Amino acid sequence: MRKPRKIIITSALPYANGDIHLGHLVEHLITDFWARFQKMRGHQCLAICGDDTHGAPIMIAAKKKNISPEALVSQLMDRHVKDFKDFHIYYDHYSSTNSKTNEKYCGEFYQSLKDNGSIEQRKITQLYCEHDKMFLPDRFVKGTCPKCGAQDQYGDSCDSCGGVYETLDLIEARCTLCSNKPVEKDSEHSFVSLNQFTDFLKEWVPEHTDQAVANKLSEWLTNDGLKDWCLTRDEPYFGFKVPGTTDKYYYVWFDAPIGYVSMTREWCDANGETVESFWKNKDSEIYHNIGKDIVYFHSLFWPVMLKVAGWDTPSKIFVHGMLTVNGTKLSKSKGTFINARTYLDYLDPVYLRYYFACKLTNTISDFDLNFEDFTSRVNSDLVGKITNIASRCFQMVGKNFDNELSSMEEKGREIFVKAQSMSESVATDYEERNFSKVILKVRDIADEANKYFDEKTPWKLVKEDKETTQKILTATLNIFRLMAIYLKPILPVYSEQVEKLFYEESYSWESLKTSFENKKVGSFSHLVKRLEISSLEKIIEASKQD
Ligand code: MSP
Ligand code: ZN
Repeated sequence: MRKPRKIIITSALPYANGDIHLGHLVEHLITDFWARFQKMRGHQCLAICGDDTHGAPIMIAAKKKNISPEALVSQLMDRHVKDFKDFHIYYDHYSSTNSKTNEKYCGEFYQSLKDNGSIEQRKITQLYCEHDKMFLPDRFVKGTCPKCGAQDQYGDSCDSCGGVYETLDLIEARCTLCSNKPVEKDSEHSFVSLNQFTDFLKEWVPEHTDQAVANKLSEWLTNDGLKDWCLTRDEPYFGFKVPGTTDKYYYVWFDAPIGYVSMTREWCDANGETVESFWKNKDSEIYHNIGKDIVYFHSLFWPVMLKVAGWDTPSKIFVHGMLTVNGTKLSKSKGTFINARTYLDYLDPVYLRYYFACKLTNTISDFDLNFEDFTSRVNSDLVGKITNIASRCFQMVGKNFDNELSSMEEKGREIFVKAQSMSESVATDYEERNFSKVILKVRDIADEANKYFDEKTPWKLVKEDKETTQKILTATLNIFRLMAIYLKPILPVYSEQVEKLFYEESYSWESLKTSFENKKVGSFSHLVKRLEISSLEKIIEASKQD
């Protein structure tokens, strides 16, 4: 017997100032597919996530709504949790960074950096809005790009020439909140000089990230050198106050990843385990599943923070690409910035789960949700190839054999055995997050099953040879049953319905080893309907905003 593994997988913590959209779902579905697969294999795998609640944008969003930041993050958390639930995304623990536990761990991480002599106090000059009485983060300043002269550019980078620059260099800077001209003002902050960790990171990064990510990071590590990292922010801010100061807060990107540890701790407290058994244990595994836009934080800052504080660093960072819709970036004006809830108002979550799995590989390439392709994959494969054959067999078994299966017909058994023999290769695809390969393999099985069914013409044969017909239906349904087991991490609700049809307990990977013969099945009720393209048009309309 294999020894059960002890695993944590996290998704990046979504910001608590907006709803979950289809882009976010890429990540949550990867995590969900993977964690469900590990559980089916008999491993302990905790899927952990929560809301990222701190920072200036959240404080400002709350102010605009005239509510407290606490009220805003609590509203958003309720909405996020509901969206995940309705997409059948399961987290063992979904929490928040705005917790006592997180504050406590922030204190410990900060202190350990201090004790290690890694923190330096330094005075810096930033743009300050005297009207709004706050230092302005990059995204709250707009002006003319100092490199190309394009107007109306943000404080950190130019959309027109792609240049990056210091906010202080922006020409004709304006506060985006009140349009006033900001002033320059000094204040003192805590910095970590990351360059002292370059050697550690040069070794760590290639071992814990995929090639493409490691290459990108190694450019930063070798050519550019690492910039010092500012850990603190001035008030007003929504976050945790740095102990011993009166007006400084931890920067949101400092307290957010610590959330991974504090959320694990909360789960452990509620379940009689220790956080150390996951985060200070060479036999446990930790994976962070993130988008490529936040690689810098997770592969440079975070390993350094963990190492200095004496925790294990992650076993691996899983990085995915960005979702586009019909070939373009998610856009509010085009109606392609689609909230999870808007999708759910019109369509079954099963479709999106299936389609994302069709498209997902373990590379960092972006991938497209193309509506025509989406409709055709769902209708021709999931409905047409996989589900229809089962529905025909179940109906025939009900009508002609009183729901009773016999044993498998010879040729059908061969296909069944072949499908069974793929179990380790499908498991490898799941393990490697190559979900598109899983789908291809299941589709191949479905093709064989359909070919078999069409050649054997049980709907004709039933008139002359009932016994053989029953065997053909038994074989076909057994092949279908294997497909439902293979698809369970991706389509858990669909597979649960199949479990019920066979009167079986929750499928695990072990269930692939058994067949279902000489027993009664239940009466078929529908598993999944065809996807109507008109629903997609309605979703676009409902998502359009000026
Ligand atoms: N709050 C930070 C993460 C902190 S983790 C300690 C954050 N939040 S986010 O809401 O902006 O993004 C959350 C995740 O969603 C990120 O991994 C990001 O890459 C992912 N995605 C956001 N838009 C996406 C797409 N269009 N496509 C795929 N993933 C996308 O960053
Ligand atoms: Zn202002």
